[in-house]
Amino acid sequence: NASDFYAHAALETGCGFINATPNNILGKPELVSRFSQAGVPLAGDDLMSQIGATALHIGILEFLVSRGVKVSESYQLDVGGGSESIDTLERTRNLKREIKTQAVKSHVPYDFSLVSGSSDFVDFLVDGRDSFLYLKGRYFGGAEFSLDLKLGTQDSPNAGGILVDVIRGLKVAKDRGLGGPINEVCSYGFKRPPIHLSLGEALRGFRGFTGCT
Ligand SMILES: NC(=O)c1ccc[n+]([C@@H]2O[C@H](COP(=O)([O-])OP(=O)(O)OC[C@H]3O[C@@H](n4cnc5c(N)ncnc54)[C@H](O)[C@@H]3O)[C@@H](O)[C@H]2O)c1
Repeated sequence: NASDFYAHAALETGCGFINATPNNILGKPELVSRFSQAGVPLAGDDLMSQIGATALHIGILEFLVSRGVKVSESYQLDVGGGSESIDTLERTRNLKREIKTQAVKSHVPYDFSLVSGSSDFVDFLVDGRDSFLYLKGRYFGGAEFSLDLKLGTQDSPNAGGILVDVIRGLKVAKDRGLGGPINEVCSYGFKRPPIHLSLGEALRGFRGFTGCT
């Protein structure tokens, strides 16, 4: 409800709106068309951290697919110490899992077994997050491979850099008088954008839109 409240407040004041939370804003056609009609730029949903497990998972899968590898199963689970991890555990677990799984699956051109989503709260990690990735599949001649990886990050700076990019992207949109979802910004900075692109395409789109190199 808070995300909806702030989206309506942004519409009333003509202020660009960024939904970093997993709450559904871009998936609400009526609300989105009000942003388009009012000429107010919008970006979301659910920020994709700079070197978060979702971005890394997508990057590894894109690499494996480009090398002709057939992935059969994979999971991405993490533990964190921030209030977001408690919230995920208590309230948004299924939503987070659905968004992350869809974000990762959309980068592989075939179906495979995938579980992707936050798993637990560990208080002493505070702003820290440990992410565990596992992948299994086959390459030439049916040979099997498996990959296990642990990523340790800090949540705040992981969101900070991408958010600065996204804020700049929306400022460019506002200066150009654009309203509604700014796809070049959404595809680059979010886990559930209106259009899923590969990491490389999303970066090129964002750079082309903002003129940044
Ligand atoms: N790397 C990241 O930090 C990251 C990545 C992707 C998505 N997100 C999403 O971004 C959101 C924020 O994450 P965070 O790590 O900054 O969380 P956080 O718990 O550190 O901060 C959330 C802030 O929102 C405030 N808040 C809560 N309810 C509010 C309300 N109704 N009105 C106004 N303020 C309210 C809280 O007081 C707190 O200051 C979460 O939904 C999270 O899922 C964060």
